[in-house]
Amino acid sequence: MQLFLDTASVSEIRTMWEIGILDGVTTNPTLVAKEGRKFEEVIREICALGVPSVSAEVVATDTEGMLREGRHLRGVHPSIYVKVPMTTAGLRATRILAGEGTRVNMTLVFSATQALLAAKVGATYVSPFIGRLDDQGQDGMELIRDILEIYRRYSFPTKVLVASVRHPVHVLQAAKLGADIATMPYAVMEKLAAHPLTDSGLARFLKDWEKVPKE
Ligand code: G3P
Repeated sequence: MQLFLDTASVSEIRTMWEIGILDGVTTNPTLVAKEGRKFEEVIREICALGVPSVSAEVVATDTEGMLREGRHLRGVHPSIYVKVPMTTAGLRATRILAGEGTRVNMTLVFSATQALLAAKVGATYVSPFIGRLDDQGQDGMELIRDILEIYRRYSFPTKVLVASVRHPVHVLQAAKLGADIATMPYAVMEKLAAHPLTDSGLARFLKDWEKVPKE
């Protein structure tokens, strides 16, 4: 399973990249706005770190605009995946971009039928937003289960990128279901490595080590 960071913060990405647990990055207009920096400058810096998969989102809402932005973004760096929203204009744009060899991440997916259409038009990734479904009283993980079942049944090559992840249990459940990728905030990725028993266990080992005669 691949682990992505859902952020546009270059310092957060650098930290996880250097540890060696990061497989990719997803950004969106909200995350880019938080950085207060120019979109393309941020994207170029992230790609320059060597991250092999960096999702950058179009903001046009019509197919022509999406195609224009998507073609530009894919030329920025070979690691770019073009993020396109799940609308009919987005489906049309995805089919064309995918036909040109561009890797598309279809975003803002909230139903299995939307995910089916994303696969049919050749999206490389589909991004179901599970946390936002949970927030409104629906089981987001149920959607991941449905999408995986459909994709497996028809052998669609589209990868399921679990997005809008809120906590480590989402990552655990996604991994158990066999989702391809989970993208998460920095704080969630940090928690994947942490356990209070690891900390207290290490503190005890170090304290006991002081009692071992040296030389
Ligand atoms: O990047 C898309 C998605 O992961 C956003 O998550 O937390 O804004 O629902 P969130």
